[in-house]
Amino acid sequence: MTSDHLTRRGLLRGSAVLAASAPVLSNAAAADAPLRSSKGTRMSPVELTVNGREAHLQLDPRTTLLDALREHLHLTGTKKGCDHGQCGACTVLVEGRRINSCLTLAVMHDGEKVTTIEGLGTPEALHPMQRAFVTHDGYQCGYCTPGQICSAVAVLDEIDAGIPSHVTEDLDRVAISDIELRERMSGNICRCAAYPNIISAMRDVSGQSGRGEKAA
Ligand code: FES
Ligand code: FES
Repeated sequence: MTSDHLTRRGLLRGSAVLAASAPVLSNAAAADAPLRSSKGTRMSPVELTVNGREAHLQLDPRTTLLDALREHLHLTGTKKGCDHGQCGACTVLVEGRRINSCLTLAVMHDGEKVTTIEGLGTPEALHPMQRAFVTHDGYQCGYCTPGQICSAVAVLDEIDAGIPSHVTEDLDRVAISDIELRERMSGNICRCAAYPNIISAMRDVSGQSGRGEKAA
């Protein structure tokens, strides 16, 4: 009984000491401890330049670039369609090249420049590709459109740079044609089937308005 009593008293005293010292221990630990997510995963610092603005993030290293943009930076113009690299709705430009942002981790792009649909133009000053999509009715529901436009911008740059595609016949002269544009845009699915008008918009921006035939 005495032993039990002492034990309980000892425990109480010990608890009081722990309670008094806990805030100090906790603060000290917080100062040195790495940030962790609610699931206990160690967070990683990620710095991106998104649409010309610097973003400093602390992310679970498993965060996709798409979720970093949508959930952490609230840039919801970039859409999540399949989240499996199959629809192209999440296409953004990273260092000027198009990429499916659902298929890549944000930490892999630390220090890089990202352009989303919000960074291509503004409602008052549309990017030429945005304007062409409006002019040519390159969309219906619009869900795929941000990805389509980012991809279309990059496709014209790829052709300008002479980068061949699977259907390029003359590797020394990469030219714009409907089949070339369709092949390069094949990763961007449109359930509303606005494909012909998207090609027209791209032709318009490229300065080659031919439709149905190869450009000269
Ligand atoms: Fe990324 Fe579909 S959401 S490819
Ligand atoms: Fe509706 Fe493309 S405009 S999915």
